[in-house]
Amino acid sequence: METTIYHKENLNDAAKILENGGVVAFPTETVYGLGAVATNEEAVKKVYEAKGRPSDNPLIVHVSSKEMLLPFISDLPEKGAKLIEAYWPGPLTIIFNIDNNSGLAPSVTAGLQTVAFRMPNHQVTLDLIDEVGLPLVGPSANTSGKPSPTLSKHVLHDLDGKINGILEGGSSHVGIESTVIDLSDYSNPVILRPGALTKLDIEKIIGTVELDQHLENQTLTPKSPGMKYKHYSPDAKVVIVEGDSSTWNEAVEFYHQQAQLVTLLASDILLSEINLENVYKTYSLSKNTDVTQAMTHLFSGLRELDSALVNREGIILVQGYPNYDNALGYMNRLFKASSQTIFGKTPN
Ligand code: TXA
Ligand code: MG
Repeated sequence: METTIYHKENLNDAAKILENGGVVAFPTETVYGLGAVATNEEAVKKVYEAKGRPSDNPLIVHVSSKEMLLPFISDLPEKGAKLIEAYWPGPLTIIFNIDNNSGLAPSVTAGLQTVAFRMPNHQVTLDLIDEVGLPLVGPSANTSGKPSPTLSKHVLHDLDGKINGILEGGSSHVGIESTVIDLSDYSNPVILRPGALTKLDIEKIIGTVELDQHLENQTLTPKSPGMKYKHYSPDAKVVIVEGDSSTWNEAVEFYHQQAQLVTLLASDILLSEINLENVYKTYSLSKNTDVTQAMTHLFSGLRELDSALVNREGIILVQGYPNYDNALGYMNRLFKASSQTIFGKTPN
């Protein structure tokens, strides 16, 4: 199959492919998604197949308005209405109880009685959904287990020849996937996946919410099926480095001694302070100390450094943000990418 690149000028062509049961990746502010019409079972199955995604891991459904969501859910709880009002379009996925007669393709929910919805904040994709007139499923458009794509070239790298097309939309500025909140148990809202939108952002709107237990204690089983899989992993080994340039210099020396090609993913400030003599390649995570910028560049940095290390013994050292309130999403992805390896703190 040939994978066609579409631009906003020929959005109608991409929409036609989707209407005919094809699979087209689309841009969002978080990461690129892999689109198919959410009411077309055959099309949805192709999405699982292209990604190599386990069939027990349900998909997020993308809409272009609140009205488009309503027919698919049993009811809209008050807290859901408030969150939609405050944060849609935006990086927030909400899980509702499903309306069983809504016509959603069965594979979307992988047999659950709940369904995840989100309205992405990206005009090209909102226009695409409007043009199709139906909601689109949209798991991140990467091969299952790899870092999510924040550029169309990442999608092409993983899925060229396996999908019908990619709608070009520039780089995803948030950089990690949406925050997922489960509102299916009305009295007990739970954050299943942390993202750029924080617990505090949500609590400002609907009061107290809990974090799923596995986010507080990594040994417990997550409630969201997708969170249990190994994720976001480059082929090269990834290690988190916390601390200042002296810790980084120690880490570089340690892996250099083991004859590893050492690559670094850190802020410009840190990179300017580290001894780079034995460093093979660096990638700028951010221009400042802010974790928001680091979030934007985490996945592209992992992909870039991983490509530089293909077929070579190498390591990617990545900056940790251990004490930042708004870094939960960033650290969650980084823990998965590194299998929770922190230099000097866990076995290296
Ligand atoms: O930012 C995002 O959310 C991106 C963009 C493309 O919108 N999409 C995305 O989709 O990250 P995906 O499929 O890679 O992640 C969806 C997550 C998975 O962890 C999945 O298990 C969970 O949401 N999920 C979906 N439906 C669920 C449900 N009914 N109950 C619990 N978890 C659910
Ligand atoms: Mg994903």
